[in-house]
Amino acid sequence: ATTRYEAEGSSATCDGTIDSNHSGFSGSGFCNTDNASGASAQFTVDAPAAGEATVGVRFANGGSDARPSNLVVNGATVQAPSFESTGAWNGWVTKTLTVRLNAGSNTVRLSATGSGGLANIDYVEV
Ligand code: GCU
Ligand code: CA
Repeated sequence: ATTRYEAEGSSATCDGTIDSNHSGFSGSGFCNTDNASGASAQFTVDAPAAGEATVGVRFANGGSDARPSNLVVNGATVQAPSFESTGAWNGWVTKTLTVRLNAGSNTVRLSATGSGGLANIDYVEV
């Protein structure tokens, strides 16, 4: 089973605003980060046991350029996922990442590495 962590929820932080102006999001909104390098969305997620876990990130990128990021798990940069254009800001897509988590609580942070900030982030599922 997976658990969904909404970007607007109590287990998440968003360097920007929680918006609801582009339809199709889950919950009550999504994270629209500042359009700046370093702007982040962070989630505190639980894992039942240590090991590899699948993290689904639902996002939309209505711009024409991909939005690159670092994936930082428990403080360590482990991947550099890039969030491609989805054609429209209401075009939501899930990107699946595989990461190693600790048993119990983990922080999963997406941090923009380009001046455009992150794609809009709806939720992560672990
Ligand atoms: C538009 C869009 C936002 C998005 C932003 C961006 O302003 O409405 O939802 O975050 O572009 O380029 O990041
Ligand atoms: Ca933005």
